[in-house]
Amino acid sequence: MSDGAKKVFVKTYGCQMNAYDSERMRETLAPLGYGEAASAEEADLVILNTCHIREKAAEKVYSELGKIKRLKNARSAGGQSLTIAVAGCVAQAEGEEIIRRAPAVDLVIGPQTYHRLPDLLSRHAETGLSVVETEFPAEEKFRGLATRRPAPRGVSAFVTVQEGCDKFCSFCVVPYTRGSEFSRPEEQIERELRELAQSGVREVTLLGQNVNAYRGPAGLSLAGLIARLSRIDGLTRLRYMTSHPRDMDEELIAAHGENAKLMPFLHLPVQAGSDRILKQMNRGHSAADYLGLVAKIRAARSDIAMSGDFIVGFPGETEEDFRATLDIVDAVGYASAFSFKYSPRPGTPAAERDDQVPEEVKTERLQRLQALLQSQQQAFNRSCLGRSLPVLVEKRGQQEGQMAGRSPYLQPVHMRGGPDLIGRVVEAKIMAVGSNSLSGHYGGDMADSGVSAT
Ligand code: SAH
Ligand code: SF4
Ligand code: F3S
Repeated sequence: MSDGAKKVFVKTYGCQMNAYDSERMRETLAPLGYGEAASAEEADLVILNTCHIREKAAEKVYSELGKIKRLKNARSAGGQSLTIAVAGCVAQAEGEEIIRRAPAVDLVIGPQTYHRLPDLLSRHAETGLSVVETEFPAEEKFRGLATRRPAPRGVSAFVTVQEGCDKFCSFCVVPYTRGSEFSRPEEQIERELRELAQSGVREVTLLGQNVNAYRGPAGLSLAGLIARLSRIDGLTRLRYMTSHPRDMDEELIAAHGENAKLMPFLHLPVQAGSDRILKQMNRGHSAADYLGLVAKIRAARSDIAMSGDFIVGFPGETEEDFRATLDIVDAVGYASAFSFKYSPRPGTPAAERDDQVPEEVKTERLQRLQALLQSQQQAFNRSCLGRSLPVLVEKRGQQEGQMAGRSPYLQPVHMRGGPDLIGRVVEAKIMAVGSNSLSGHYGGDMADSGVSAT
């Protein structure tokens, strides 16, 4: 609660793009005197930055709002106030409905209007009325947002370069919540990355719902953008996500073979392996197209670690269709992956279908798929055993004298060392392998024995 200075608590759900937006909202509120609160209890303003991708994600917001409402009531009993804002994709999808379901909410603000946050807050303060702002305004939100804070930040940062989606996969809400595809001008992105590099950031992941659909105002492609950004001094690693198979062009594939700063990791969701289902999903490619693409990418960069997203139980999915998903997973060999049960989303074509797959079938298929993906992840991790990998050291590890970083393939790596290593890329010999992380040895104390897999 307020002890003079105002404080904001932002809680983030959903994807990295939401995490990026949360950071930008905090920065936009700083000139209004808002510091950061560690919890809702300490805050004058709580912002829930929400996700609408699956039913569970959207429902979490309402249970959280229930808790915050009790806090607000307790405050008003003591003559103090708490402002509650709902931002993000649930705000965009549900608008006014949020205030009907949760009248304690003061502000509903869609993902394209964060730069208007200060105005909306003062409008609310003046009128005492709830404010709903879910337009897709013509002005560009990134331009209206504050410049990045030079505050000390981590070694690794995320930067949104593209937003929105024109693909309209039949299961997905994103085209409705984030609007049509938009790319930030390259100068603006470059400036932001230079500022980040100056404040100690060494690795940047370029974000977009369809990041490889990036097109700068003069037609610059994602590969061109990466080439330009990789010339920034101080930045040692670049990554990008999430990509759509349809936008994976030759130039970007070639960049993986040519650009040393571009890391050999690619998140390229396929969703399903059956051509019949891929067609009904409106993905715009076949299983063979995807496998052809993976082969080309591997020809450009043989050690690339593949990652993906999968949906089981899309309407009408048969056991045979599902087996085709297992087959494509077998054929690719993923280093990591996310997999979900299909969740019908209001307003999307697939939700209207009357051949929905029963919940218990989805559960059973998800278990089988996850067992396969998990075994592939472990196999990939084991393949790193005994190898020497360049690790970007990010922070102290959980144990005393331990540091934590990431391999080129995005695996967490722990090793002994001091905080002087933070921000450096060091060679670590991988001595042990867990299912989710590796442990390595760096420097003169490197032992040649004791290599083990757990
Ligand atoms: N733009 C990205 C991902 C966006 S959403 C892409 O096209 O790949 C992240 C993931 O959530 C998707 O890849 C998909 O696997 C999953 N997802 C989206 N809608 C879903 C739904 N209705 N039910 C279950 N999973 C869904
Ligand atoms: Fe959703 Fe498909 Fe767009 Fe990805 S490409 S955001 S899954 S509609
Ligand atoms: Fe969720 Fe919106 Fe991201 S629906 S996954 S927060 S784009």
